[in-house]
Amino acid sequence: AHTVRRDEDGVVSVGGRTVTELAEEFGTPAYILDESDFRARARAWRTAFGTDADVFYAGKAFLSRAVVRWLDEEGLNLDVCSGGELATALSAGMDPARIAFHGNNKSVEEITRAVEAGVGRIVLDSFQEIARVAHIAQGLGKRQRVQIRITVGVEAHTHEFIATAHEDQKFGIPLAGGQAAEAVRRALTLDGLELIGIHSHIGSQIFDMSGFEVAAHRVVGLLKDIRDEHGVELPEIDLGGGLGIAYTSSDDPREPHEIAKALTEIVTRECEAARLRVPRVSVEPGRAIVGPTAFTLYEVGTVKPLDGLRTYVSVDGGMSDNIRTALYDAEYSVALVSRTSDAEPMLTRVVGKHCESGDIVVKDAFLPADLAPGDLIAVPATGAYCRSMASNYNHVLRPPVVAVGDGEARVIVRRETEEDLLRLDVG
Ligand code: LLP
Repeated sequence: AHTVRRDEDGVVSVGGRTVTELAEEFGTPAYILDESDFRARARAWRTAFGTDADVFYAGKAFLSRAVVRWLDEEGLNLDVCSGGELATALSAGMDPARIAFHGNNKSVEEITRAVEAGVGRIVLDSFQEIARVAHIAQGLGKRQRVQIRITVGVEAHTHEFIATAHEDQKFGIPLAGGQAAEAVRRALTLDGLELIGIHSHIGSQIFDMSGFEVAAHRVVGLLKDIRDEHGVELPEIDLGGGLGIAYTSSDDPREPHEIAKALTEIVTRECEAARLRVPRVSVEPGRAIVGPTAFTLYEVGTVKPLDGLRTYVSVDGGMSDNIRTALYDAEYSVALVSRTSDAEPMLTRVVGKHCESGDIVVKDAFLPADLAPGDLIAVPATGAYCRSMASNYNHVLRPPVVAVGDGEARVIVRRETEEDLLRLDVG
């Protein structure tokens, strides 16, 4: 679905616009997002899961009003995890019934707003929250549809900070020790709640399907226990997000149809064995939809060879627009995109303009030895968790997100200005 091309002068274009034009018109750094690629990926998930399942795009990966409208048009639902994400979704006109609200510590105010708005589900993350949401819903004279998030105790093979289903971490209610069963017991007795299902999210940037299979097995096991104890068959399960994408050529991601097939098969099989009605399945991909659809366009500012080591290439952004390298030791690639070069490849480290040496965008990269100030370089696969985790460290202004397609480019999130920064500084 990618519309990235390179012409005979080595100039890269996407969606029919060259990077040199884009840099001129919108400045650098900038996140350049291929709208047709986004839509195609969203549609691929939707199609793979069909009408018996729901796809909730995880807004934390990247959310803006334009994104909400694309999702709406492509038939996806939306997972939000804060009042801010909820406000963005509602302001873009998303039907609240298609919104799921997540988080391990939603505030009373956030819960109230979500219940009032009529969100389709709130995912309950703790015993206190079960009581809290029930109380708020009852006070508003409503019965809120909820799922309970459980931790199934699988180790997802990913970075420790983004794995979420092992036991020693903050999310969900452990299946172990009968805690999840106790949570279900409580939720079923509270008037303010309509318990519609069980939720599990095992982590992020995962390539190996076996963790999902174990999770599905354990979630269905809980459904069976619930049926046996309460005579109730919960109608839904959500297996979370977490599908990995290719950041470098060594990553080999699964396709949505493979995932849909594997999950549907295991849920159906397990339910048949347990003589349960097959629940409606939902998933919550974020990175897999938006990650590959954008690249960050930077201008090279300085090139500093360190004899016998490597060459440091400084760009006009850094850890404020992509914290993932510093935070997770994430791997990225980079390419010269504004011209061709026949020069030998040199070992570089692409770094930002921030005041610390951990400000690394691409740890190890080969770039042509004639790289010079003014060249444009692009770091692919920055659509997810880059703009959404961007900061103002060193009072650097957060870059815009520019959507391209059919020869058009349009800013969907504008570049921050010094005025924006100073507006908050009221001292
Ligand atoms: N559902 C739930 C409940 C989640 O917590 C997450 C991600 C997702 C879905 C979407 O996961 P995805 O499909 O995007 O992997 N900042 C980290 C990733 C944190 C993920 C948090 N939860 C990173 O940059 O890698």
